[in-house]
Amino acid sequence: MSDQALYSAHINHRRERLDHLLNAHGFDVLFIHSGRLSYPRFDDRAQPFRVHGHFNAWVPLPYTPDCLLELRSGQRPVLWYLQPEDFWHAPPKAPEEWWASQWDVQIIKDPADWVKRIERSEATAVIGEEAHLAGLGDHIAVNPRSLMQALDEDRTFKTEYERACIYQASLKGARAHRAAKAAFDEGQSELGIFQAYLHALNEDPMTLPYDGIVALNDHASILHYQHRDIEGPKAHLSFLLDAGADHLGYASDITRTHMGHAQTREGGMFQGLIDAMDHLERGLAHSARAGHSFVDMHHQAHQGIAQILSQTDLVSGSSESIVAGGITRTFFPHGLGHFLGAQVHDVAGQVDGQGRPLPPPPDDPMLRLTRALKEGNVVTIEPGLYFIPMLLEKLKGESAGQQVNWPAVESLIPFGGIRIEDNVLVTEAEPVNYTREAFHAID
Ligand code: GLY
Ligand code: MN
Ligand code: MN
Repeated sequence: MSDQALYSAHINHRRERLDHLLNAHGFDVLFIHSGRLSYPRFDDRAQPFRVHGHFNAWVPLPYTPDCLLELRSGQRPVLWYLQPEDFWHAPPKAPEEWWASQWDVQIIKDPADWVKRIERSEATAVIGEEAHLAGLGDHIAVNPRSLMQALDEDRTFKTEYERACIYQASLKGARAHRAAKAAFDEGQSELGIFQAYLHALNEDPMTLPYDGIVALNDHASILHYQHRDIEGPKAHLSFLLDAGADHLGYASDITRTHMGHAQTREGGMFQGLIDAMDHLERGLAHSARAGHSFVDMHHQAHQGIAQILSQTDLVSGSSESIVAGGITRTFFPHGLGHFLGAQVHDVAGQVDGQGRPLPPPPDDPMLRLTRALKEGNVVTIEPGLYFIPMLLEKLKGESAGQQVNWPAVESLIPFGGIRIEDNVLVTEAEPVNYTREAFHAID
């Protein structure tokens, strides 16, 4: 299907759902603001800008501040499209036919032009930051909770258009990952590797859906390692890259871990762990099916990691005792994954279908997705196994620490850790692993 046909079906689906929801929640109209540029205090340099996810879920305009959607039951939707007259900055580019044909596009020069469209009525709902909507009066419903929950819930089911966007973002990310791996093999620094990633991506870095994590050696044990060293380390032992790409406001979120060329006993051991984690990750991704509880899948990940720790003699005892003693939580201290879409950590991961809270289990406070999966969900599957000195030190002081083969574990600290992350579409049958398909397509 063409982009235009996919988008047209996407909008028709959204409009049908919205007509139903407006009626069910007692509203005549919903306005969605795209957001507004923000500035740090004491400075006039704008922060990087991205529209609200709710806006992007309707229009492929991820970087257009101060636009407004006007969505009325049964009527053609209106986009108030801000193209200010400003000789300091370029205005957003002209609307493109393939998506604009679904909208009544009204070009405006000033956000004040859409403010007057908003009726001060109890039947008016508006989504946006309260500070940007100040002065609209007490009568309108700003971010009404139950309507927002229903819209969030709809966003957990990806339309064909959204699936195609995430797959395109996966292809872009896969190509850039390949280039980054080549730069690692050449012995480049973290910054050099990141530049190779961006070069292959061939897009403005501000389009990245999140700050890429480029970690050599023990930096891979820092879950959200945020620096990029200019100098390479003495030896390239290992490389963890968690970096994605954007397509029309939809994200991919991909992690791969690679071994360097060091031919040491520890190096062989670490490569064995990467292979075992890759196998585990593929199995978990394959089990992302409608009806499966993501909390159960997270627990299966812990079982699988316990088996790996036991088979490699890093930890003694049965895998049950390794999990029960909390040992796997030292090596895998984050969640198995999250919803993915217009936001990298997409909405409604910790509520049920009616918006009721589904908090993570007490032992897994970092798990962002606690629901049973449904057809049309797109999730990340990202088990990890890390050698984090701070957490290892703590485990050493606990009785479960006696099960750990400390010399072997400590010999792996310089390799940092492993994470392997794929993006997966849940269907009624076999899941679709967008990331593996994307790597396959470019090889
Ligand atoms: N890149 C952030 C995450 O994997 O959730
Ligand atoms: Mn992720
Ligand atoms: Mn990631």
